[in-house]
Amino acid sequence: MSKNPTPLERVRDYEREQAPKLPADERPLFHLTPLVGWMNDPNGFCYYKGQYHLFYQYHPFSRQWGPMHWGHAVSDDLLHWTYLPCALAPDTAADAGGCFSGSAVPLPDGRLMLAYTGVQPAGTFRRETQAQCVAFGDGTDFEKSLLNPVVRHAHLPEGYSEFDFRDPKIWREADGTFRMVAANRHEERQGAILLFSSRDGLDWQFAGEIDASRKEYGRMWECPDFFPLDGKQVLLVSPQEMQAREEFHAGYGTMAMLGTFHEKDCQFDRESVQPVDHGLTFYAPQTTLAPDGRRLMIGWMDNWETCKEAPRRHPWYAQMSMPRELFIRNGHLYQRPIREIETMWRDTVSHEQITVQEETSLPGVQGRTLDMTVTLHPQASACRRFTLHVAKGRAHYVQVRCDLARGELIFDRSHGGSCRDIAHTRHVKAEVQNGNLTLRLLMDKESVELFINGGEQVVTSLIPTPLDADGITFAADAPVLLSIEAHHLA
Ligand code: FRU
Repeated sequence: MSKNPTPLERVRDYEREQAPKLPADERPLFHLTPLVGWMNDPNGFCYYKGQYHLFYQYHPFSRQWGPMHWGHAVSDDLLHWTYLPCALAPDTAADAGGCFSGSAVPLPDGRLMLAYTGVQPAGTFRRETQAQCVAFGDGTDFEKSLLNPVVRHAHLPEGYSEFDFRDPKIWREADGTFRMVAANRHEERQGAILLFSSRDGLDWQFAGEIDASRKEYGRMWECPDFFPLDGKQVLLVSPQEMQAREEFHAGYGTMAMLGTFHEKDCQFDRESVQPVDHGLTFYAPQTTLAPDGRRLMIGWMDNWETCKEAPRRHPWYAQMSMPRELFIRNGHLYQRPIREIETMWRDTVSHEQITVQEETSLPGVQGRTLDMTVTLHPQASACRRFTLHVAKGRAHYVQVRCDLARGELIFDRSHGGSCRDIAHTRHVKAEVQNGNLTLRLLMDKESVELFINGGEQVVTSLIPTPLDADGITFAADAPVLLSIEAHHLA
């Protein structure tokens, strides 16, 4: 240990000291957790020098949110992660109040560039402010620019906030110029996403406002992402303090807007709006482009309401979602689990076209680390209600109820082991399509990610259920035909 360690060295020393003490078998099998302490948003998701890099909002010294650092991990397949030392600590005048969320882009000269929000602490006469900073490095060590913050309130027209101005997502265009979208809160239009451009990544110009909440979709929009996909332009944001409306639940949500972008006048014609994930615990997703052209998304498998009441059973708190591949079909954003998960399939069990009514368990179909697809074929059946129980033990279960008549699914973890008065249920559209309803469930110990009808709707939720509750049962109000394919994961 050096005699006068910098704040970053202090964290790295702490990580080295903690790492051997952390029980690896308590971690999920394939979801990323922080090395130690607290984690929130995914940051700097990118493919660099032959590996995926994922950074995360990180407070190593406790399992609660605190002064924000960037934790760091790398992976070949996005399922098995290796920790790298903490990448950023709040240690300069531009970010003394925290290194908030941001992104990364590989540079042609071989360096990796990070863009993040520097929080400048409150002083006697002013509130805490936020501005965008950059750092450059080799994939492990990063040097912050002396010009930080490089995008500040002074760049903005009137009406935009210097207090809510964060989460830069950067990319490089084919001509080598840089773009950035960042979130702001406008006096009237509230949550707003702003676009900037730069030739060198240091000197930035404001290009315009891409879209805004206009009091319809929450007070502030966080963590924007903006990319072309399957002939459309997609804007992802995470709204705060949203009122329940349309398919959106109240509180912290995720939202995808599909439309067309006219770069010349920075005009985004929004054509449709949808929740990204209907679950209880999914927020602040970020995407990157895989080398094979897939648009991959990963989110924080939590939110600011649920995390307050969640148990702290491990020396780390929070996890990332399963990485998902995005695609557009019929003007709708779909998600499917990345295909790399197939390399973890072991002991596949199939039950083809079996009839179920009374609550039934099936040989070989159980466990808490599973990739299972249930296909309902309700055509010739009087069945109106189908119920799937997972994580079922003597005292607990997590329930997925399909109301086939209404075309609705209810995800319900009320009996999953929580003793907190927080949301435990979600209602989501789940219609029989071409005679089938498919439910793909990915379970990884304390989480369930449910992909309905090939990823048309997704429901992500942590479950606090003891791990010995590993039963799975199927039941219906009238005989119904089912097919099941369950892959155990290892
Ligand atoms: C989203 C968020 C971001 C911010 C970060 C702070 O979850 O609130 O807007 O940069 O978390 O940790």
